[in-house]
Amino acid sequence: MRWIKIDRIISGKPGTEDIPLDTNLRPRALDEFIGQNRIKENLSIAIAAAKGRGDALDHILLYGPPGLGKTTLANIIANEMGVNIKITSGPAIERTGELAAILTNLQSQDILFIDEIHRLNRAVEEVLYPAMEDRALDIIIGKGPGARSLRLNLPAFTLIGATTRFAQLSPPLRDRFGAVYRLDFYEQASIEAILKRSARILGVEAEGEGLIEIACRARGTPRVSNRLLKRVRDYAQVMSDGRIKRKEAVEALTRLEIDTIGLDEIDHKVMLTIIKKFNGGPVGLDTIAASISEEADTIMDVYEPYLLQLGFIERTPRGRLATKLAYQHLGVPYDKEKPPQPTLL
Ligand SMILES: Nc1ncnc2c1ncn2[C@@H]1O[C@H](COP(=O)(O)OP(=O)(O)O)[C@@H](O)[C@H]1O
Ligand SMILES: [Mg+2]
Repeated sequence: MRWIKIDRIISGKPGTEDIPLDTNLRPRALDEFIGQNRIKENLSIAIAAAKGRGDALDHILLYGPPGLGKTTLANIIANEMGVNIKITSGPAIERTGELAAILTNLQSQDILFIDEIHRLNRAVEEVLYPAMEDRALDIIIGKGPGARSLRLNLPAFTLIGATTRFAQLSPPLRDRFGAVYRLDFYEQASIEAILKRSARILGVEAEGEGLIEIACRARGTPRVSNRLLKRVRDYAQVMSDGRIKRKEAVEALTRLEIDTIGLDEIDHKVMLTIIKKFNGGPVGLDTIAASISEEADTIMDVYEPYLLQLGFIERTPRGRLATKLAYQHLGVPYDKEKPPQPTLL
């Protein structure tokens, strides 16, 4: 697994400080997993059916922005099935031989979890096709004209893939998943329930109003909500009696420079760049990234999905547009007579 150090508090990506937090707070069973009800229902039927037949589950693809519960769900599925889970990631498997070794070491019904599956290299991905489809491994023995290929049977395993970039997955790989689930940002009520559960596990006393303040700024993302909870807990402990009330929550979150709907400085910069430098857009993502000195990948994975969800920006074939809502949130006058024009660079 790859842990990237990210100091942005609103990022859904795991940072180093999240490792123990994620592990402690991660639900282990499907009924502890809050929200995403449609996915939970489908999964519980699939799991019950597979168990009833004594069969492995179909291959599953989980996709959606970071911090919404993909890794958690993969672990829960293994727990509910009562099978082993082997965890790896796309960039960690460099050679076909490494994937072959992983596959041949699996037992029947085991789960292989490949995080960031869109980052598998081409050669490795091609080994995966027959493995997923026919549970077979094609190996080449020898070199040159004398080389021959040999087909090995693999145990009946389940592949669970996770990705933040569905569009980057090659169609042949996509087609080999029996079920594809898209995780959405969580509703406010689910985030509040997650915060309540996390506060209980961490032994933090919190009033409902305090948790609501945190939930409003959590970007519909469980990992962000847990991280904010921890910061507010620290603040309440140092500045008052340790109990999280509305006042402590607002003060701590204001200090972290997160606005009332969970946007931070980078979100603001992204929108202001589109509005002020590019007259509202459309403007390409790479251009936005360059003008605020951020990585295009980070903007695409962390910032853009939530701004799209809020309806603050729109994706068009010619680039990103800032909507009227974005102007309003930032307090910039929106001129209806002069609709956004493409900017020539
Ligand atoms: N539905 C949920 N209910 C409760 N906690 C959750 C839920 N989804 C995620 N979490 C919490 O958020 C953290 C991040 O989830 P994770 O599965 O690592 O996200 P992803 O793999 O999509 O980046 C988990 O450690 C867990 O504490
Ligand atoms: Mg993950």
